Amino acid sequence: MKIIVVGTGFVGLTHAAICSEYGHEVIAYDVDENRISAYNSGDKAQIEHHVNEPGLADVIEENRGKSLFFTTHVEDVIEGTEAIFLCLPTPPAPNGSTDLSYYLAALGTLSKVLAARKDQRRVVVINKSTVPVGTARRLEKVLRENNVPNVGIASNPEFLPEGDAVEKSRRPDRVVVGADTEEDLAILRRVYSQFVDHVRIRYIETTPETAEAIKYTANTLLLTYISYWNGVGARLGEAFPNVRMEDLKRGVTSDDRISKWGSYVSNGAGGSCFGKDIQSLIYQFRNVGVQTDLLESVYEINEYQKTYLIERAVREAGASFNHKTVALLGLSFKQRTNDMRDSSSLKVVEGLLARGVKSIRAYDPLAIAEAKRYFNPETNHLFEKISYFNSAKEALAGSDMLFISTDWEEFRGLSSTIQATVKPPYLIMDGRRMIPDYRALVATGYDYLAVGSQMLKGAKA
Ligand SMILES: NC(=O)c1ccc[n+]([C@@H]2O[C@H](COP(=O)([O-])OP(=O)(O)OC[C@H]3O[C@@H](n4cnc5c(N)ncnc54)[C@H](O)[C@@H]3O)[C@@H](O)[C@H]2O)c1
Repeated sequence: MKIIVVGTGFVGLTHAAICSEYGHEVIAYDVDENRISAYNSGDKAQIEHHVNEPGLADVIEENRGKSLFFTTHVEDVIEGTEAIFLCLPTPPAPNGSTDLSYYLAALGTLSKVLAARKDQRRVVVINKSTVPVGTARRLEKVLRENNVPNVGIASNPEFLPEGDAVEKSRRPDRVVVGADTEEDLAILRRVYSQFVDHVRIRYIETTPETAEAIKYTANTLLLTYISYWNGVGARLGEAFPNVRMEDLKRGVTSDDRISKWGSYVSNGAGGSCFGKDIQSLIYQFRNVGVQTDLLESVYEINEYQKTYLIERAVREAGASFNHKTVALLGLSFKQRTNDMRDSSSLKVVEGLLARGVKSIRAYDPLAIAEAKRYFNPETNHLFEKISYFNSAKEALAGSDMLFISTDWEEFRGLSSTIQATVKPPYLIMDGRRMIPDYRALVATGYDYLAVGSQMLKGAKA
């Protein structure tokens, strides 16, 4: 099949690459010329500068020029296309609603190109972006107003987790497709032929509105689960002596009805989706007069969680941040990605700078280039206080305290590096519970403050 993917960010680039692997002819289109020339360059570093996903650059290189093409000119490639996937940004607007301006701009271009095509075979325009319930209907209206002939609409939300995008695209838990007609559902069955009737992967056909609602329900439920562990599980370990977080987790999640996923406690969940999707659903509900208390609490717990270790450090460890040097380990919102959208580290940096730290010594295995865009001293002179290092050890050198903000595996074996690099009194703030042998550190004088545990004061020599 000939497929066009509109928007080549995290979702679009992955979807285009994996569809080309299935044997379709895929043209990925973007308005960003830098992205398209990077993807066409054949240079892994250039591709990963835009989207850094394990294995993705290799899939692109295997298929580029054979079944995968990149362009900034959608009008040149439209003839013969049967499916067009919209993978466009849908960021939150300041009032919490969904900013559909990128989406509508792309739709304007596309509907003109579609109306002008010579070949008038059936084509389906499919939302992969996360969009408010009812947006597919809006898409249909725009296409009709532009007199696009023989066109259908569909909703096919994306559930990919960053860091595992390639694997999860090859073996998703489910594929959800919402469309109005058998003809359009049949086109999507051909796109995803290897998943239809699969023994393990659920292929779910429904209405466009239900598909849109499934995405919001899933994402807000996942954030609710994370916030339950942070707002209840972690608090138990922090409020009462001798409650062991890891045992609590095992004891609770051994119940088959309760998932292990998300039962880790942390300084909050980031990423481009959870925060904006829950805000969007709150907004959608308010518009129709539905009570939103639960969703608002979930959102607030998650936001509060991002910096509350800093507050606990002041309250429970008597820490003063003024004129201190803090090592910050981890910038991306989770391990195995360079994505910093909504990352907890953004709030941590903000919180540290607001308390007058002298300097922040940051390290992340993948996200330093990305961090330099976020913490640009030209937009805020306070960001001059951040310097970047190539290893945890270098970032630790000369620091007065440490904050661990991302769950990179390499941070797990950190205690010997800490002992070799910085001497007590020294406060370790562990937002991800990455130091399993923290007792040894405490025994040698380091103060240890983790999400889910009471403050542990270092033993005096
Ligand atoms: N990132 C995730 O983990 C994830 C997971 C599931 C769903 N989603 C949803 O998928 C959608 C896309 O997310 P993303 O993370 O890939 O976004 P992104 O910001 O990484 O990428 C969007 C791309 O669209 C391009 N674009 C913007 N305007 C355009 C136009 N008019 N024409 C063509 N291209 C245009 C941009 O240049 C960019 O390359 C969002 O709705 C998001 O909520 C994201």
